[in-house]
Amino acid sequence: MRDAHTDRVSAYARCAYGRKIDSRIYGSQIKIQLHKGFIQMNEKISRRTLLKLMGTAAGAAALAPVTFLTGCKKEISPDKINDNSNAQPEPQAKAMATKRIVFYFTGTGNCLYVAKSLSDNPVSIPQAMKLNQLEYEAEEIGFVYPVYGMMPPNIVRKFIQSAKLKAIYFFAVATYGSRQGNAVNIWNEITKASGYSFDYIATLLMVDNWLPAFDMDEQKKMDKNIPQNLDKIKAAIDKREKFIEPVPEDAVERWNKRKEENSGPFRGDGVHAKAEEWFTITDRCVSCGICVRVCPRANYKIDVEHAATSGECELCLACVHACPHKAIQLTQGEKNPNARFRNPNVKLNEIQRANDQRG
Ligand SMILES: Cc1cc2nc3c(=O)[nH]c(=O)nc-3n(C[C@H](O)[C@H](O)[C@H](O)COP(=O)(O)O)c2cc1C
Ligand code: SF4
Ligand code: SF4
Repeated sequence: MRDAHTDRVSAYARCAYGRKIDSRIYGSQIKIQLHKGFIQMNEKISRRTLLKLMGTAAGAAALAPVTFLTGCKKEISPDKINDNSNAQPEPQAKAMATKRIVFYFTGTGNCLYVAKSLSDNPVSIPQAMKLNQLEYEAEEIGFVYPVYGMMPPNIVRKFIQSAKLKAIYFFAVATYGSRQGNAVNIWNEITKASGYSFDYIATLLMVDNWLPAFDMDEQKKMDKNIPQNLDKIKAAIDKREKFIEPVPEDAVERWNKRKEENSGPFRGDGVHAKAEEWFTITDRCVSCGICVRVCPRANYKIDVEHAATSGECELCLACVHACPHKAIQLTQGEKNPNARFRNPNVKLNEIQRANDQRG
């Protein structure tokens, strides 16, 4: 915000560590205070250096306060660039100079693997939601998510409905395990309703982690041409190809039928599941707490004896697949209760970091 009396421009943003960055411009002088662990600076720098250092709202405000994120479907008021030092800092806005941001959601690592191959630093949707960081701008913005009953997970749907995103090129990759159905059209409809027009939407066949129907030991043995298909997708996105994967007519019909039925966990408006109904925790539980850390809905707690779960559930199955003692079982039964899966290119602690809602 520019103060007419002092010609001072102030803005707040957050550094990669989530700390507040404070910049102030007094006429031609700029002061910036960075908080990065124990390092602090407070010195005069050029506007160009400020932009480089911050790459955020503050830098953008320094050059052109009102053009910051304008043109976005959901415009961000210049008031959001705050000069009140008592006010809460605004959610982080990514640099205008950012080339590509990839958002992902994962239960068992397939989508994180794909997201990592499309970006060096993909952004976890559960973490963005937890920190209420909902404003982003980049040349290219992409989504990687698993198909659940043809749909995106609820948390992904909620993120796209509440985020303010600006990009030249929007792309999405939906991973699935056996039949993607109408997933591409559903994504197109959900994102259009939020004002976005996706340039590229493709699906990628991977291991199917849906335990009621699939034996993970069998799935892991299947060759689904994942690296080759992923390479094609990467090449197309790098060239900013415009492509919406066609959907067969029978898949659209199946989807319309399901919407009419409107029962079971996968309905027209999303996934309906309660953790306490879906999962049974057996006495094999050793209270290690891994389920607590991998759950993107914070549904787990460790009771005196063992873990307990309840609450609105994404059905991502992160908890079930990650439990080292296979102590979490699906109440309705499974194809093979002794087989579990995690994408071989993803470590357990990466799934924990992606989904952990504590703190
Ligand atoms: C609740 C649920 C529903 C699923 N529904 C479908 C589906 O409709 N079609 C399909 O082919 N795969 C389906 N899958 C499989 C996942 O989409 C697939 O394994 C995905 O790659 C998992 O990604 P992740 O490892 O990042 O969690 C489903 C999996 C879960 C957990
Ligand atoms: S991950 Fe498994 S063993 Fe560990 S606390 Fe959870 S249910 Fe118990
Ligand atoms: S309870 Fe399990 S399946 Fe449900 S959101 Fe948490 S980790 Fe995912």
